Amino acid sequence: MGIYAHYIFPRILDWALGNPDAQKQRQLVLAPAHGNVLEIGFGTGLNLPFYPATVEQLTALDSENFRPELVQARIAKARMPVERVQLDAGGKLPFADASFDTVVTTWTLCSIAGVEAALAEMKRVLKPEGEFLFCEHGRSDDEKTSMWQDRLNPLQRVVGCGCNINRPIDRLIQKAGFEITKLDRFLMPNIPRLFSETYRGVARKN
Ligand SMILES: C[S@@+](CC[C@H](N)C(=O)[O-])C[C@H]1O[C@@H](n2cnc3c(N)ncnc32)[C@H](O)[C@@H]1O
Repeated sequence: MGIYAHYIFPRILDWALGNPDAQKQRQLVLAPAHGNVLEIGFGTGLNLPFYPATVEQLTALDSENFRPELVQARIAKARMPVERVQLDAGGKLPFADASFDTVVTTWTLCSIAGVEAALAEMKRVLKPEGEFLFCEHGRSDDEKTSMWQDRLNPLQRVVGCGCNINRPIDRLIQKAGFEITKLDRFLMPNIPRLFSETYRGVARKN
């Protein structure tokens, strides 16, 4: 990894995704989390303070190990035990079928290269009665905006270290065999529309 991807990008991420508007969304999306939880794309651990007391154990998976000291300090303050796993979520996950009560992604489905395979694995490891909680940015329903998202996506993939701005998050989740039981679609404030189209919701196994 280059200097930008290793040192600069993780700092931009932590700053951009740690703002009060994002924190509000973290609180809302994580409120139903419970039991044994798998978070895919743990990043710098910004979700940790928002997990409710109903969470017993968190498995925090990411392909990178961004800002290890900062993340360790956040984990030390977490109210539940946290086990970190470093691997690419686009491959086979090292967990048994139906082992998690809750699976979580926040601002992550945009950047997993093998997102279809990752969603299939997330479904496999989720218990039949479990819930997949997500808050993601993605493709606009507005044609003009999605046209610009498609045009600028190649540039965004470079600047955003693999982040895509044009993924139809709800359709990807449904295509993986989940049923979306709750979906809120809105624009995050103070962010250009290309990046602010948000999908926050809950999905279950079909
Ligand atoms: C935009 S950051 C979001 C971090 C965190 N979820 C948050 O809400 O602050 C996306 C995260 O997904 C991780 N990621 C990207 N591709 C991945 C993959 N294939 N497998 C696992 N993690 C991945 C990145 O390393 C990064 O930490």
